[in-house]
Amino acid sequence: METSGFTKNTKRLLIWGAGDQGTVALDCALAMKRYSRIDFLDIKEKGHRQIPGHTIYEEAKEKVSELIHGYDEVIVASGSNYLREKKIAQVLAAGVPLATLIHPTAVISPLAHVANGCTILAGAVVNINAYVGIGCIVNTHAVIEHDCLAEDYVNICPQVSMGGHARIGRRSFIGIGSTILDHITVGRESIVGAGAVVIRDVPDGTTVVGVPAKRKH
Ligand SMILES: CC(C)(COP(=O)(O)OP(=O)(O)OC[C@H]1O[C@@H](n2cnc3c(N)ncnc32)[C@H](O)[C@@H]1OP(=O)(O)O)[C@@H](O)C(=O)NCCC(=O)NCCS
Repeated sequence: METSGFTKNTKRLLIWGAGDQGTVALDCALAMKRYSRIDFLDIKEKGHRQIPGHTIYEEAKEKVSELIHGYDEVIVASGSNYLREKKIAQVLAAGVPLATLIHPTAVISPLAHVANGCTILAGAVVNINAYVGIGCIVNTHAVIEHDCLAEDYVNICPQVSMGGHARIGRRSFIGIGSTILDHITVGRESIVGAGAVVIRDVPDGTTVVGVPAKRKH
């Protein structure tokens, strides 16, 4: 796994998404000091903001597959797990490398695995033997303890804590400040509400909230 900060300012990065996740990705990419140029691709309908010093290309006006070939790496910066998966598939089909953004203050065990297309933000920890799948977001100060598994396209919000051997299924969303106890499994496409403490396994496609976390009706 290539980590941040060692190859300085040589690559061109395209951030696909200029919303909140896009600006957070920009901040992370700038901190890594490895990109000479960083631009955005977005849909104008969302009313995207101006980001001084960075071009924002409009999806409707571009041939996306051609545009992304002008960059060395692409990161898909969408908080939606579904959209991230869809756009990552387009990037992979075009044969352009996915970036993996790892903030220099994040601590990633050399014996952890972080797959391509992930964004690991400031102060996050991914401990020994943990596995983080393709296109995951590990947000500010989230802790993924030893031997955890986050399957592809999972969104782990700020300050989430996962105890050792906890597992999160594909495309699940883990809300801000929640805790998943050790050895607990959250299924695929499930949602853990902000601040929840998950003490029992969560089935696929289920939303849980509260302390202890219970199915939301
Ligand atoms: C769990 C969640 C997805 C539910 O959203 P929703 O379906 O729109 O739910 P509602 O706001 O309609 O609330 C429905 C009920 O669940 C309760 N509820 C919602 N979120 C809750 C939470 N995190 N903890 C406890 N109860 C919660 C509400 O109080 C409400 O209860 P009531 O029916 O007794 O009044 C959402 O509230 C949440 O926690 N999202 C996480 C946001 C987050 O982490 N953002 C960080 C981005 S970086």
